[in-house]
Amino acid sequence: MKPNIAIDGPAGAGKSTVARLAAEKLGLVYIDTGAMYRALTWKALQQNLPFEETALARLARTTRIRFANDEGVQKVFCDDTDVTEQIREPLVTKWVSVLSSFAPVRRELTNLQRKAAASGGVVMDGRDIGTAVLPDASFKFFLTASLEERSRRRYREMVNKGTQISLAEIEADIAARDQADRNRKVAPLVQAEDAIVIDTTDLSVEQVVDLIVAKYSQEVE
Ligand code: DC
Repeated sequence: MKPNIAIDGPAGAGKSTVARLAAEKLGLVYIDTGAMYRALTWKALQQNLPFEETALARLARTTRIRFANDEGVQKVFCDDTDVTEQIREPLVTKWVSVLSSFAPVRRELTNLQRKAAASGGVVMDGRDIGTAVLPDASFKFFLTASLEERSRRRYREMVNKGTQISLAEIEADIAARDQADRNRKVAPLVQAEDAIVIDTTDLSVEQVVDLIVAKYSQEVE
């Protein structure tokens, strides 16, 4: 069985880009757990559900979330709808921290994530992968970067997509999400004791990917 890689860290630290490229290079499967929380949030907003525990727990139990590879591009499906683009919208980003704070919602998604990793060979990124979802993962990385740098990266990403938003708004949003993710009662964002910390502030994406690939390749074979 191929080992799993867990990648955690705050919003904008570069986790998803790095995790996707590392998975490609190592021939592993990439699983974006943030996209799963986002897909549920998108559906809750579509259905005008109240953002409270009972309604969202029921939603988590009855929704099918899956990933599909479309000519090398990873798509996210919520039931049968392709929500790849919609889950990145600011309204989803605003509400996802609330949805992800509820224990029964996390339980459902954690179970799905463990099943996805059960046969090994995945690179999974999120907030609680090395601590709660896959505490036995062979490789754990915790990616950080300064708030300013993370905000600049997110800003460039959004502007490239044509979203109208200011750097100040992004910085406020990321700071609020950091605060919510780090302080929630269940599975908060925290560095696993055995995780390798990589401060990506002054590193390129390639440099971070290379560090992860080198570590994995050194020990696996
Ligand atoms: O990685 P992201 O920004 O797409 O994640 C969106 C939100 O989902 C994030 O603010 C917190 C939540 N999340 C979580 O609680 N646990 C995870 N494993 C992944 C994401």
